[in-house]
Amino acid sequence: MKVLGILGSPRMGGNSDLLLDQALEGAGEKGAKTEKIILSRKKISGCLDCTKCNETGLCVIKDDMIGIHKKILRADAIIHSVPLYFWAMTSQTKAYLDRWCAFFDGNWNWHQAYLPKMRGKRIGLITVCGDPNVHTADPIVHSFRETCNFSGMKLFPVVQVSAATKGEVANNEKAKREAFQLGRKIATP
Ligand SMILES: Cc1cc2nc3c(=O)[nH]c(=O)nc-3n(C[C@H](O)[C@H](O)[C@H](O)COP(=O)(O)O)c2cc1C
Repeated sequence: MKVLGILGSPRMGGNSDLLLDQALEGAGEKGAKTEKIILSRKKISGCLDCTKCNETGLCVIKDDMIGIHKKILRADAIIHSVPLYFWAMTSQTKAYLDRWCAFFDGNWNWHQAYLPKMRGKRIGLITVCGDPNVHTADPIVHSFRETCNFSGMKLFPVVQVSAATKGEVANNEKAKREAFQLGRKIATP
């Protein structure tokens, strides 16, 4: 099984980063081949809504998202780890998610060629927010949940963590365990 990790935080060694590593370690323990993509190190422009992909299934913007599209198609599971910025996902994550547009036709159905790879795709999500209430990050969950619901992907139970300072989550054994377990579960056939 191939598990792709998507880091939505630009802060290396930060909380989302540490938790994503835990999740990928859990997946690795189950024998999955894992790969981590750090969105902030990629050049990913926002969707232009040019609708060309509705016909072709290919995005006209020739940036790093083209390679990521291929990795998404090949992955059996994708785990996202995303901090909350101003009650929303980070701009890096939003640009990445909007570019999923290329997988859909004009009626928001998967392009036929992608359907077998995308239907039922396993999606993982870890959210981190500075607020002590982990549910402050629910807008991120909403976005991923609705995306999975409308397109027939499988969202695994979301791991939601509160942490503010860089790497603070390293001392949060419960959060690390939950992230590890998410990785294990998502990589279990
Ligand atoms: C630009 C910016 C906006 C933020 N907005 C929020 C917010 O709206 N609510 C919140 O609880 N935390 C907010 N935070 C705090 C981060 O979510 C928190 O520090 C988190 O641990 C960062 O995760 P990271 O270490 O993975 O980068 C914000 C941080 C930054 C840098």
